[in-house]
Amino acid sequence: MSSKDIDRSGLTFRRDYFDDLKAWQALVDLLKDTFDIDIGPLQQMGRPDPSSMPFGWFAADGRLAANLSAFAMPLVINGRTVNAAAFQSGAVRPPWRGLGLYRDLTQKALAWCEEKGFEAIVLYTDKPALYEPYGFRSLSLHAYSGNAPVASKAQLPARHLDPLTKTDLELLRAALKTREPVSDVLAVRESAAMFVINTQLDPSVRISWLRREQAAVAWKMEAPGHFRLLDVVGADIPSLATIIAALDIDAGVVDVLFCPDKLGWSGQAQPLESYTHLMIRAPRAIAFDRPAMLSPMADF
Ligand SMILES: CC(C)(COP(=O)(O)OP(=O)(O)OC[C@H]1O[C@@H](n2cnc3c(N)ncnc32)[C@H](O)[C@@H]1OP(=O)(O)O)[C@@H](O)C(=O)NCCC(=O)NCCS
Repeated sequence: MSSKDIDRSGLTFRRDYFDDLKAWQALVDLLKDTFDIDIGPLQQMGRPDPSSMPFGWFAADGRLAANLSAFAMPLVINGRTVNAAAFQSGAVRPPWRGLGLYRDLTQKALAWCEEKGFEAIVLYTDKPALYEPYGFRSLSLHAYSGNAPVASKAQLPARHLDPLTKTDLELLRAALKTREPVSDVLAVRESAAMFVINTQLDPSVRISWLRREQAAVAWKMEAPGHFRLLDVVGADIPSLATIIAALDIDAGVVDVLFCPDKLGWSGQAQPLESYTHLMIRAPRAIAFDRPAMLSPMADF
C-alpha cells in the first residue's frame, strides 16, 4: 500500500511507491541526475528487491525531490546470519537541499527498520559524517591478492552467461535463490536484485556458468594474466583452482574481492582503496574475524 502525506512546502510524501511506474521512473531520473547511475534496466530484469520500502518527497510536476529507500539485506557476519536492512538511493535534488528533507527521510527509514525489527542497517556512502549522528560506523574493508593456484585439470569449460536473455536470467536467479554465502566472514545471503543490476552497471564484469559445479562466477581480467574474482553464486562454492581451470584463462596474479575462506586459497589481505565507506548501525561494534569486504556484486 502506498501512503501519502501533503506538506506545507508543496511537496507530497509517499512511501512504498514502486508499483506506480511514473513514480518509479521519477526515481530512475533522480539517480541518473544525482549519481549518473541507470537503474532503469532493473524493471525488465525481475524488478527491484521485493522487500524495498522507498520514502520520497514528490514535487507537483511529478519529479522526485528527495528519496531514501530501505530494503532487507540479510548478511552473514562472522558465521552468523544477521537480519540486516540496507539503505540506498539517498538523494535530494539541488533546489530542495538544506531544508531538512534528508533528515526527515532518514528518520522515517530508521523508524521503519525499528518497526520491522531489523538487527542492523548497512549503507554505502562517500559522506560518512551524514550518518554518524545516527550511530552508523565505517567498517574497515580488505580485498585479497596473491599468486594464482595451480589450476585443476579436465574441467568442463564454463560458458558465458548473458543476464539480458530470458533463459540465462532464469538460471542466474535460480542460483541466487539457493546460493551458499560466498564467505562466512562477510557476505550477503541472497540480494538477487542487486547482483542482477550490478551485472549491467560495470560492462567489464563477465558472468560465466560452471556447468559441472552449477555455479555462476562474476570476474574480470585487470590486465593480461591478472584475474579478478568478484563473486561466486552456487549451492557449493568451488575452489579457486577449479574456477580458473573452468574459465580456461591464463592467470598469474589473482585479486579476490571478498574474504576467500571457502576458496581453498589464501592471498594477502590488502586495505580496500575506495572513496565510499560501508557503514553499519548495530547494537554492538562489529570486528571481522578475518579481513573482509562485501562482494562488489552486492553493491547497493
Ligand atoms: C547529502 C544530501 C542527501 C543532503 O540532503 P539535504 O536534504 O540537503 O540534507 P538535510 O537538509 O536534511 O540535512 C541533513 C543533515 O545532513 C547534514 N549534511 C547535509 N549535507 C551534508 C554533507 N554533504 N556532508 C555531511 N553532512 C551533510 C546537514 O548539515 C544536516 O545536519 P543536521 O541534521 O545536524 O542539521 C544531498 O545534498 C544530496 O543529495 N547530495 C548528493 C547525493 C548524496 O551525496 N547522497 C547521500 C550520500 S549516500
